[in-house]
Amino acid sequence: MKCKIERLLVNYKTLEEFKKFKEYGIQELSMLEDLETNIIENDSESPFYGIYYGDKLIARMSLYKRSAKFDQYFTPPQEYLELWKLEVLVPYQFKGYGRALVEFAKSFNLPIKTNPRVRSHEFWKKMNFESVSYDMERDLGQNPVIWKPATK
Ligand code: COA
Repeated sequence: MKCKIERLLVNYKTLEEFKKFKEYGIQELSMLEDLETNIIENDSESPFYGIYYGDKLIARMSLYKRSAKFDQYFTPPQEYLELWKLEVLVPYQFKGYGRALVEFAKSFNLPIKTNPRVRSHEFWKKMNFESVSYDMERDLGQNPVIWKPATK
């Protein structure tokens, strides 16, 4: 399966596409507000990457680089990527789009941390992410999983 992963731009079209995803919340609403009040320009880069099928956004994830200063997951503390809001629209699931996005995130060759959604643990296991031992204060009810590049 071939698919192209694109950095998503903040504009009204992208924000309209975001409404189809279950994980639509404060982050998306504040992007809309920033656009409406001209805090950000039309077509600014967002932290989201996505896959289009025709002109329809069918999968997306957000990637955010965290500095080593804030690292509580890797030893020694290092720069890593926080991956969140990975979601594939229902009719397009189990076709390799989720894997394609995760492989794209891995291609930056930085460690990755994510908080899997309740029923996606099998998927993350297949992507070679491992659980970390739970730390109540740090993880606040989440069950993060991590991945490390081979050389790190
Ligand atoms: N449970 C078990 N295995 C899963 C899985 C799941 N929920 N989702 C994917 N997999 C497996 C696939 O079978 C595939 O295995 P294979 O390589 O051996 O064939 C591998 O993981 C890669 O799957 P892929 O097709 O890339 O997954 P996807 O595009 O559907 O993306 C999610 C995976 C979890 C991101 C996506 O399904 C999603 O957004 N789901 C909605 C939220 C959710 O968590 N749903 C859980 C199911 S109800």
